[in-house]
Order: sequence, then C-alpha cells, then structure tokens
Amino acid sequence: MNDKQRVALHAANLIEDGMVVGLGTGSTANYFIDELASRHADGLTITTVASSIVSANRAQQMGLTVIAMEQLSNIDVYVDGADEVSPNMALLKGRGSDLVREKLLANASDQFLVLIDSSKCVDRIGQNFPIPIEVAPFSWKMVLHSVVDMGGKGALRPNGDGLAVTSHGSLVLDMAFDAALTSQQLNEQLNAVPGIVEHGIFEQLATAILIGENDQVTILKTG
Ligand code: A5P
Repeated sequence: MNDKQRVALHAANLIEDGMVVGLGTGSTANYFIDELASRHADGLTITTVASSIVSANRAQQMGLTVIAMEQLSNIDVYVDGADEVSPNMALLKGRGSDLVREKLLANASDQFLVLIDSSKCVDRIGQNFPIPIEVAPFSWKMVLHSVVDMGGKGALRPNGDGLAVTSHGSLVLDMAFDAALTSQQLNEQLNAVPGIVEHGIFEQLATAILIGENDQVTILKTG
C-alpha cells in the first residue's frame, strides 16, 4: 500500500452512516472512492456528490449512489487531494479541470479532509506550481492585465496544439507570483478581479490534512 492509498483508507474509515460525502478528483481521491465503495459494500449507508464527471463515473461503477450538486445546499464531508499544502493549511488545487466544483464542495462541507503524501507539503503556496486561474474565455486578456499588475507572470494553459478548457468551459491562466505575496494576500486580491471564475488558492477551507509518509498517517487540524 502506498502513502496515498494509506491516507485514503484512513479517511474512508472516518465516514459515518447517513453522511453526504463529496468526492474529489485525482489519483488520491480515486483511492478514497475505492475504499468508500468497499465500506458501502460492507453495509455503510451514504450518498455521494462528485467534483467531476470522472469521479462520478468511478463512484457509480463501484456501486455508490451519486446525486447532482444542484440538489444540495451543504454536505457533511468533502474528501479530496491537493497539489500543495502550506503549514497554515492553505491549499493549491486545480491542476485538473474541475476547480469550480472543487471549491464549491470545499466551501459547502462541514468537514473538508485533504489527503496528500508528504511531497505536497510546501513552505508557501506557489512554490512548486503556478496558481491556476479560471477565466471566462472573453475576459482572459483583461484578467491577464489585472493579474500582471499584481506582479503575476504567466500565460494561458496549453493543451496539445490548442488551449486547455475546463469542465466549466473556462480557459486557465497559470500564473507565478513573487514569493513575498502570501496565499492570504493572493486569495484576497484574486477574489477582487472581475472576469475570474475561480482560482486555485483554497484559504481557510480545509478542516484537516491527512499526510501519508513512511507508512504512517499524520493529521493536521485547525485550531
Ligand atoms: C484537481 O484539480 C486537483 O485539485 C487535485 O486534487 C490534485 O491534482 C491532486 O491530485 P493527485 O491526488 O493525483 O496527486
């Protein structure tokens, strides 16, 4: 069992009967879906909502009940991976194409459990990856101008010979910022730019980080 599988198993064992569970997207979230389906087969009663079509398909194929996000105003727990996690539990997400749904579920959940191996732990958000910024297609140049004014450097995310398009129909700007800007400052400034659909900084949304390293699971919690 690798570290991602180990944290996924740990998280699946935290799920209780009757919960509405948000399913993330990515390899770690896939392990969680598999472990949750295994508990469901053993009698755990749960309802799930997925952050992506890929996760919804996987969950349905494994026998889980998946309902549409449109039917929900809040959920009990959301379980997902992340691309970076800082010591104060800020996250970078959105290397995939489902950032909008991921942040909605994170915000609507009573508990947001983030599953990572230790390679995702960083000193500051933006250390290893640029910040993904989803933009309405017609707004990308104006948003780029605003974000460059903030000190950002980057460009539209390519995909083969074309551009990456998210499941929400947005384009993505991948932007790097000066290390002096904190994730809190970046979050506030990006939230204020018109034309940004969503961005990959998840500030003060995680309730627990489950870190897999050397066959152990360490848990960071708020408060
Ligand atoms: C998806 O958009 C991301 O936010 C994922 O949560 C992230 O890429 C984690 O992926 P892995 O679990 O495959 O490392």
